[in-house]
Amino acid sequence: MHVTSSFQVQGALGQRPVVDVVIMAAGKGTRMKSKTPKVLHALAGRPLLGHVLETAAQLLARKVVVITGHGAIEVEAACAESTGGRVEFDLNFVRQEPQLGTGHAVQQAVPALADDGVVVVLSGDVPLTQADTLYHLIAACGGDKLALLTLEQRDPTGYGRIVRAGDVVQAIVEHKDASDVQRQITEIYSGIMAVPAAALKRWLARLDNQNAQKEYYLTDIVKFAVADGVGVVAHKIDDAVQVAGVNSPVQLAELERAYQVRQAHRLMEEGVRLADPARIDVRGDLLCAHDVSIDVNCVFEGMVNLGEGVSIGAHCVIANAVIEAGAVIHPFTHIDGEKLGVTVGAGALIGPFARLRPGAKLGAEVHIGNFVEVKNSTLAQGAKANHLAYLGDATVGERVNYGAGSITANYDGANKHRTVIEADVHVGSNCVLVAPVTIGAGGTVGGGSTITKNTEPGALSVARGKQVSIANWARPAKKPKA
Ligand code: UD1
Ligand code: CA
Repeated sequence: MHVTSSFQVQGALGQRPVVDVVIMAAGKGTRMKSKTPKVLHALAGRPLLGHVLETAAQLLARKVVVITGHGAIEVEAACAESTGGRVEFDLNFVRQEPQLGTGHAVQQAVPALADDGVVVVLSGDVPLTQADTLYHLIAACGGDKLALLTLEQRDPTGYGRIVRAGDVVQAIVEHKDASDVQRQITEIYSGIMAVPAAALKRWLARLDNQNAQKEYYLTDIVKFAVADGVGVVAHKIDDAVQVAGVNSPVQLAELERAYQVRQAHRLMEEGVRLADPARIDVRGDLLCAHDVSIDVNCVFEGMVNLGEGVSIGAHCVIANAVIEAGAVIHPFTHIDGEKLGVTVGAGALIGPFARLRPGAKLGAEVHIGNFVEVKNSTLAQGAKANHLAYLGDATVGERVNYGAGSITANYDGANKHRTVIEADVHVGSNCVLVAPVTIGAGGTVGGGSTITKNTEPGALSVARGKQVSIANWARPAKKPKA
């Protein structure tokens, strides 16, 4: 996660208020029709709530209070995991059981909130709010006003409406409580606000549930602010994606697309050439140097780093990998470094149909061809394995040529062992190298050999049945029919 914060810039210009974030995540998400709590459904490979936590990190929040309810145990465990123990902010959970409305939700957070901060209220199912938008909202709050993030909606059905007298915001009226006239209002409340903590606490204490839904509405604090003579400001944006919530699989897929389109445009603005911006998926952080080109239908996951001039063919899946300058990844290649990572050296040629697994460290100019699997192995500069082969737990020297169909037998059923293939070795086709074993530098292994003992440098090793040829051999013939 990279935290780029224009907040720091803003901080240099004026006093930055202390920000505490409350994330509402107790709701059920019935329309997802899923056992998984709604806020844990993935967008771009990360839980919805993970996106909101990332935004909180970008705000340089002091404290983040997540309000959980449905699936609380699962949600809390996933949060702790998604922040990976990073101490960017003080992460707290409070339970809301039962769920009596958004006001009731935030009431649960009161004991966890100090009085001196500005509280930013977010929802765990609204993943794509930009930190920049929230800086503006916090600036509008200015530490002493109630700032609401609002939006014009052509169809405002279901949303809370921003009721103004002239220009001045008077109240938020929920759709179900709104009069016919109020339902004509197209400016809606996004569900996101910035509010001074001390005032918030005062107003929360005054909520009741005398309304159409018999719920404690957080939105009722607007009328208390007005009554107390506290300024209410609406910060209106026109980018609906930033405040869109996920309630159904369709909405999840729509936001996924919106996110991916934005990633694609960001990459192109950085100079990456995408064959089709509609056909790339980035589920993590993709960093590209100049002159990278990416063909259609590629998926990038976790941390992927592409060096200058790297070319990625169509239909590749690449996760947690560093691909150095000038390497070419041909179509249908699958690379997944998981925790150990994968490195592809400069100018290497990989695929088509190659598979690089965790701990594959390929030097410059290495060639890995079709249906070759490499796992936890180091290949030095110029080594080649071009066809139908397996290299697992191997150390492969410079310029080694590893023949078609050859494998390292690295696993004895209980333990893994290493194979060392020294520089300039030529391994013929269809060999089995039974680890632990070392093939000495410059040696040759005859095709079809099963090698179980170390070989001397420069030696030719052949370990297979000797060929027998019988001259003029008559093949059995079919008996004539009776
Ligand atoms: C709320 C706003 C509405 C706004 C809309 C924007 C209120 C009363 N209304 O509507 O003005 O236009 O958001 O989407 O605030 N949640 C809890 N506990 C609860 C209830 C909700 O944690 O008891 C969470 C939900 O999981 C969700 C968020 O709060 O993440 C918003 O709840 P939701 O029911 O979607 O909001 P609405 O009441 O429809
Ligand atoms: Ca909603």
